[in-house]
Amino acid sequence: MISGFAKRDKETKDHHMKPSVLLMAEVDPFHALLPELEKVCRVVRWRPGSDDWKKELSEIEGIYVYAHINVDGPLMDEMPKLKVVSNFGVGVDHIDLDAACARNISVGNTPGVLDGATADMTFALLLAAARNITKGDRFARSRDFRFYDPSFMLGQEVHGAVLGVVGLGNIGYQVAKRAIGFDMKVVYHNRRKNEKAEKDLGVEYLPLDDLLQRADFVSLNMPLTQESSRMIGSRELSLMKSSAVLINAARGGVVDHEALLDCLIAGKLHAAALDVTDPEPLPRDHPLLKLDNLIVAPHLGSATEQTRIAMVQRSVKNLLAGLRGEPLPWLIT
Ligand code: 8YV
Repeated sequence: MISGFAKRDKETKDHHMKPSVLLMAEVDPFHALLPELEKVCRVVRWRPGSDDWKKELSEIEGIYVYAHINVDGPLMDEMPKLKVVSNFGVGVDHIDLDAACARNISVGNTPGVLDGATADMTFALLLAAARNITKGDRFARSRDFRFYDPSFMLGQEVHGAVLGVVGLGNIGYQVAKRAIGFDMKVVYHNRRKNEKAEKDLGVEYLPLDDLLQRADFVSLNMPLTQESSRMIGSRELSLMKSSAVLINAARGGVVDHEALLDCLIAGKLHAAALDVTDPEPLPRDHPLLKLDNLIVAPHLGSATEQTRIAMVQRSVKNLLAGLRGEPLPWLIT
């Protein structure tokens, strides 16, 4: 056991020897993370509602962040020694990249290690929505399930159906690959044509409106940017088939939730399956959460033991490189 004196001694030593890093997380971080970080830096915990961490800002050389906590220009300005922002995850819509670039601060993320897990989750949502798995689970546990009825809970066929992938980057590519294994026809929409995917997988590019009209399943896998914000609104939803399923494993902000709510209440879609929402979490009394034709998961896309470990490894390597003033292995800007 470390005595009070020894602990204080270690803290003082850390203060002088190790660079200070602000850990911006709403909850205790993933179990493998803190020991990794503490090996290389003095961790200052960000605490909303407390001022303690603010006193440390002039010493902070790195930020380690995940999920939705905003890292903006004014915050960066309070940290004159800041060299690096390392994001645990691939989406960086919560980080002001232009502000970082203007201040010569490197920003890194963890691409390449979470594509498979996020595509698996996308597919799990697709299958669950198509075949009424969550609705069926609720029913099978309830008092109402007294007779087997072959005419109830008829789903939508997955094999032979058309999947439209919006955002055919690394994750979208993996989703398309899974769909082909399920005997689906895959069409896609992307900022740029993805020649590799067309060649490898035989996927077909379509303008967004055409994709929405043709697809039986629409999977959103694009990053949240100014361009993609609220990209799926009432006009887009009205183009979809009434038997179609919308799956969002990207960011809540790419869908207009009010429009989705109206559309689901009116039965204009078979179902929607969301791994992400805006805000996240939704207010506990949000009307979307009351709908039977909606599946919602608490942002589990990359949440597997294996993928989280790989994300820790990449994000800590980025952080370390940035603290040493070296180029980040997975640099965004
Ligand atoms: C993570 C994600 O769960 O990588 C992303 O963009 O949304 C997820 O993989 C998240 O970043 C961890 O907070």
